[in-house]
Amino acid sequence: MRSAGLHIAAGLLLALCFLNAAAAGADDSGCVSTACHPDMGKDRFVHAPILSHDCSSCHVATGKRHPAEKGAFTLAASGAKLCYMCHEEKGREKSVHAPVESGDCTSCHDPHQSPYRRQLKEFGAQLCFTCHDGMERMFKENRSAHAPFLEGDCLACHDPHSSDFGKLLASSYPGEYYLSYSPDSYRLCFGCHSSDIATYRRTTVDTGFRNGDINLHYIHVNRVDKGRSCKVCHDPHAAQQYKLVKSNIPGFGKWLVPFKLKLTKTGGTCIVGCHKPQSYDREQAR
Ligand code: HEC
Ligand code: HEC
Ligand code: HEC
Ligand code: HEC
Ligand code: HEC
Ligand code: HEC
Ligand code: HEC
Repeated sequence: MRSAGLHIAAGLLLALCFLNAAAAGADDSGCVSTACHPDMGKDRFVHAPILSHDCSSCHVATGKRHPAEKGAFTLAASGAKLCYMCHEEKGREKSVHAPVESGDCTSCHDPHQSPYRRQLKEFGAQLCFTCHDGMERMFKENRSAHAPFLEGDCLACHDPHSSDFGKLLASSYPGEYYLSYSPDSYRLCFGCHSSDIATYRRTTVDTGFRNGDINLHYIHVNRVDKGRSCKVCHDPHAAQQYKLVKSNIPGFGKWLVPFKLKLTKTGGTCIVGCHKPQSYDREQAR
């Protein structure tokens, strides 16, 4: 990568930078000294080319004097193309994250270094909240929050770049609310929860969502015709009711039907829209 042209250009750099560079030989270590960019490479997670003092792969000297003149360097390529000089292209899968699509890699990654792994600009969920502030509100205000969400582990379910499943999901999960049941459709959830919650019509152990031993997960989800997806009832992140239960469920068209769940020690009561309340009890079937 380093060319003779670069050495000529280096001659135009600030004297101090030049002297150091010359002393160090063919690399750009002169660009980092107590006088110039002293913090470069000192953070906890440093990008490999910084560690190898390779500034010029990305910053190409234009011939103007640095730092006396503006525009002494230009980037070797713009946007994601700069990264793709060395990395495999991201975003080849079906669903692509908007900032990846637009080549804005540096919205999440610092090109040089960071206190966080993978040179990320923020830690854990905070990175995501810089753009998804609605999610942050959900994080702060809820009655129940999903354990991995609460831990800020967005990556347990999402790929930050792209995925073959909708919504950047790491595994399969239906986009639709109603579908014929197959455990394969819910591999995302069943990666952590046992699919037994929806496998057996009768059980006294696999789920708390049952009336006596009648499994209400089975009844709602495990159907050939119009089985309900988890998302009819649960929000995967957090909710204003217990057990990640949503406050509204989809009705006809864009109509949202209010959905109330009241829990008791041994069961609960669901009120859907203006239908009459339906109760379940694990000990005394209703
Ligand atoms: C992997 C590519 C890459 C490498 C290697 C690299 N940089 Fe950068 N650098 C960038 C990008 C991208 C920017 C942001 C430019 C912009 O926003 O216009 C940048 C910006 C800068 C800036 C402007 C201030 C700032 O931090 O945003 C300085 C100074 C800088 N780099 C110094 C260096 C030095 C010194 C080295 C070598 C030790 C180096 N860079 C190596 C990609 C790189
Ligand atoms: C000059 C080559 C080069 C360029 C250009 C480059 N990288 Fe890298 N990058 C590397 C090398 C080498 C590694 C270390 C080996 C690896 O993990 O693939 C690395 C590692 C990484 C890592 C993983 C760090 C870790 O902790 O494992 C991330 C994230 C990354 N680069 C992001 C970027 C982004 C974003 C850009 C564009 C702004 C970029 N890189 C441009 C060479 C480059
Ligand atoms: C929305 C934030 C975000 C954007 C935008 C983003 N990344 Fe990442 N990237 C991440 C996160 C988070 C990880 C850590 C993933 C992990 O550890 O599982 C990561 C990991 C990486 C890695 C190391 C592991 C791997 O998957 O290869 C590379 C290389 C990388 N990103 C390059 C890029 C490039 C190139 C772009 C631009 C096309 C980009 N990233 C855009 C958030 C982002
Ligand atoms: C630089 C801004 C930015 C950051 C940081 C960011 N996102 Fe996004 N994300 C967007 C934009 C823009 C969209 C598209 C519009 C929308 O749905 O809000 C999007 C959409 C999404 C979607 C929906 C994708 C779809 O197919 O509908 C998911 C899921 C997502 N982001 C997850 C994350 C996660 C997880 C993180 C943290 C690792 C994150 N985002 C960080 C900007 C960002
Ligand atoms: C347990 C898995 C899981 C975790 C953890 C998780 N998500 Fe999601 N996320 C999903 C699912 C599933 C969807 C699709 C929702 C749907 O189809 O109803 C989704 C959708 C999204 C969307 C798109 C919203 C929309 O309505 O289109 C964004 C943005 C998002 N998640 C961000 C995040 C962020 C940020 C975090 C971490 C704070 C996170 N997610 C953690 C499973 C998860
Ligand atoms: C990365 C692992 C992981 C994934 C993926 C996951 N969960 Fe969870 N979930 C947990 C953990 C951990 C708990 C808390 C302990 C428990 O109850 O098993 C939990 C609890 C729950 C609860 C009970 C919440 C409460 O307040 O008691 C519901 C409902 C739930 N998950 C639904 C889902 C759905 C729906 C999916 C798929 C979209 C899913 N989970 C995917 C790890 C996961
Ligand atoms: C018809 C609404 C509905 C649907 C659809 C639904 N759930 Fe539930 N789920 C509930 C209710 C209500 C509870 C709380 C039961 C209790 O504790 O009284 C619950 C509880 C849970 C729990 C906590 C442990 C347990 O079983 O008691 C998990 C995990 C869970 N659901 C996962 C899922 C997954 C995964 C799907 C999709 C495959 C799904 N649910 C579909 C209503 C539903």
